[in-house]
Amino acid sequence: MNNLKSRLAPRRELIDRELDRLLTPSASPAATVEKAMHYAVMGGGKRLRPILALEACLACGGDDSAVLAPASALEMIHTYSLVHDDLPAMDDDDLRRGRATTHKVYGDAMAILAGDGLLTLAFRILGSQPAGDGFAVARCKAVALIAERAGVTGMVGGQVADLEAEGRPFDRERLEWIHRHKTGALLRASVELGAVLAGADETGLGALQRYGDGLGLAFQISDDILDCTATAADLGKTPGKDREAGKTTYPALLGLDGARAEADHQAEIAVAALSDLPGDTSILAALARYTVTRSS
Ligand code: IPE
Ligand code: IPE
Ligand code: MG
Ligand code: MG
Ligand code: MG
Repeated sequence: MNNLKSRLAPRRELIDRELDRLLTPSASPAATVEKAMHYAVMGGGKRLRPILALEACLACGGDDSAVLAPASALEMIHTYSLVHDDLPAMDDDDLRRGRATTHKVYGDAMAILAGDGLLTLAFRILGSQPAGDGFAVARCKAVALIAERAGVTGMVGGQVADLEAEGRPFDRERLEWIHRHKTGALLRASVELGAVLAGADETGLGALQRYGDGLGLAFQISDDILDCTATAADLGKTPGKDREAGKTTYPALLGLDGARAEADHQAEIAVAALSDLPGDTSILAALARYTVTRSS
């Protein structure tokens, strides 16, 4: 794990610098929302989605420097989803990434607009980067793909089902659907983005889709487990919220041990898919395992 951390530290720094560059507030009359966007994104976070995009690109033999800006766009979409997820009308959380949630600092209206601004900026970046005619087809594919994964057919749909399931009985099929959509869709999109921009063939893309599906589900099961077992200091968010809200979670359905077993199983599905890829997949394998052993 320490080995993985030290291998990822330069990646994270690169992504943080790029995000800071893309989100530096201006002196325009819209500066307040720009500051809220910067606050939300630059407040820490594991940067898992952009890291996955960069690693998927490398695994398909691509040049990861071309993927840095689109990968950062994914982090903007992810962060917008967190800002909205924390609003009083949704999960009503005060703590995120170890500090006050965006609406607690800037107010609900500015947090809603910061989310809108992040989502829109992300698509401006995806539509224009990597620049040049050589990437025109890949850029179009990337925009359509990310829109499908982030929208009602993906993350937004999952969030809707998550909210509507609160306090209601649920079965395993509905639970898996929610997790694959609210969280799995954007994680899968991250590796798909790297593959598309690397010009991967069908085999490479298919392998990364299976990897992304396994990792995505494992990741949200692990998020559910940490909500039951971790401290606020480790998590940077308030634990125990899922039970309080009557959320649809794996520990609620299968117990902690059953949830851990399913998370491990999904992580192994992810690792197994990597054998079909030509490039170095050691970090992708380590990330899938980290997903189920992490403490934050
Ligand atoms: C939290 O995502 C929300 C989920 C989709 C489970 P992360 O655990 O990746 O959050 P950050 O980006 O590291 O803060
Ligand atoms: C969040 O799931 C999924 C998205 C933000 C799309 P959770 O509601 O479980 O995430 P946390 O626990 O607040 O980070
Ligand atoms: Mg939620
Ligand atoms: Mg939440
Ligand atoms: Mg959670």
